[in-house]
Amino acid sequence: MATVLITGCNRGIGLELCRQLHERGDDVIGACRTASDELRPIGIRIIDGVDVGEDAGVSRLAEALGNQAIDVLVNNAGILRSDSLETVDFDNMLEQYRINTIGPLRVTRALLGNLHSGSKVAIVTSRVGSIEDNGSGNNYGYRCSKTAANMVGVNLHHDLSPKGIAVLLLHPGLVATDMTGGTGVSPADSARGLIARLDELSLASSGEFRHAEGYTLPW
Ligand SMILES: NC(=O)c1ccc[n+]([C@@H]2O[C@H](COP(=O)([O-])OP(=O)(O)OC[C@H]3O[C@@H](n4cnc5c(N)ncnc54)[C@H](OP(=O)(O)O)[C@@H]3O)[C@@H](O)[C@H]2O)c1
Repeated sequence: MATVLITGCNRGIGLELCRQLHERGDDVIGACRTASDELRPIGIRIIDGVDVGEDAGVSRLAEALGNQAIDVLVNNAGILRSDSLETVDFDNMLEQYRINTIGPLRVTRALLGNLHSGSKVAIVTSRVGSIEDNGSGNNYGYRCSKTAANMVGVNLHHDLSPKGIAVLLLHPGLVATDMTGGTGVSPADSARGLIARLDELSLASSGEFRHAEGYTLPW
């Protein structure tokens, strides 16, 4: 049984990760801004008021955890503000950096004292952050924020793997959540894959960028 902390746990992929990990017996802690009616009945420990874009929210999380050891930290919270060359709004672009790029770094740094040798840290980034895989353009803010999130993850790998903490960048697939307007595979299928990737993560595979289905993605 592992103690797993998941951000953005009140809906979408984060909610499903909480559900499946709890069902198999892990000790799941869900962090969110506001708990949802779908989250509460699962029966996990919920820490609300956690906006990953704000120091205050992340400090609240760290305080609520105290010296609780975290075996697996999943930085899942994220936002998508679709745009094109014509419509890209630079404030929206910065907002996506604040949540998608700085959020995982803010949370991981705040919880360094809760991680230990043998812990795992994941960031749910996105395949659309891959420069090599970009075959269609658009979504300047989201793509760039996820590319930079991948860099955060590789940097964390370099800083944390010497401490025995493995780091993984994850693409969940195209998943039918609010973010995609319900297009894609079910959150349950995606979460199953993500959990398999977390389970197999080791220091030997730290720093990789993987699809939920298991294969390595290009940077
Ligand atoms: N769905 C896909 O196809 C897909 C593909 C690639 C990557 N991803 C990534 O997967 C992750 C989960 O996405 P999803 O599809 O589950 O999206 P979603 O259904 O829109 O859920 C997003 C989650 O992030 C939380 N969140 C947003 N801003 C936050 C903030 N400032 N502080 C704390 N939590 C915040 C939301 O909480 P609130 O309810 O409080 O807003 C919600 O729990 C994201 O990082 C996303 O970029 C998704």
